[in-house]
Amino acid sequence: MRSTWSGLQIAIHWLVFLLVVVTYCAMEFRGMAPRSYRPWFNIVHVSCGITILVLMVTRLLLRLKTPAPPITPKPSPMLTGLAHLGHLVIYVLFIALPLIGLLMMYNRGGNWIAFGITMPHAAEADFDLVDMLKAYHVTLAMVGYYVIGLHALAALGHHYIFKDDTLKRMLPGRRNRSL
Ligand code: HEM
Repeated sequence: MRSTWSGLQIAIHWLVFLLVVVTYCAMEFRGMAPRSYRPWFNIVHVSCGITILVLMVTRLLLRLKTPAPPITPKPSPMLTGLAHLGHLVIYVLFIALPLIGLLMMYNRGGNWIAFGITMPHAAEADFDLVDMLKAYHVTLAMVGYYVIGLHALAALGHHYIFKDDTLKRMLPGRRNRSL
């Protein structure tokens, strides 16, 4: 069995991290920009969000295909269970959140752009549905802040408190790795 994540899995992990930062920033800071720039913030937001969706599904498929490398020294069963639960929440959240965003844009019924391309939309807007999806999107995005915070704290806890290799095996540049 591998002793570390594959190069591809590590690359996707840190790419998703960067994209999540940009996706959140595009929304948090769009209010500070002059009105004429706001469409650009929206394009960055939806383009990065869709890329996150594709990468998270890819990651999930890779994860289902190959087991996670073992942690040394082995954490307690309770910690392992909590970690599995946390990772499941991250997968569900960062797949559901962009999917809901996509459905929201589709059902607005107007032209919208991602990656510089005009995206498909419903023939007629369904504003009740859009309002409901928007409420879910905003709530899940807020939950996302806490989940990411807990995830980062857990990684640091593994490294500094339990002194195992959980964090190190997700860093690039270790030997004994397969793609
Ligand atoms: C992981 C990916 C995503 C994250 C973390 C995320 C996060 C957020 C956040 C924090 C907001 C601001 C909420 C607020 O106003 O308080 C937002 C709004 C929005 N998101 Fe996303 N989002 C993601 C993906 C997407 C995708 C893929 C789309 C569409 C294709 C999308 C469409 C929108 C739209 C249209 C709004 C603005 C709603 C409005 O104010 O009318 N999002 N998102």
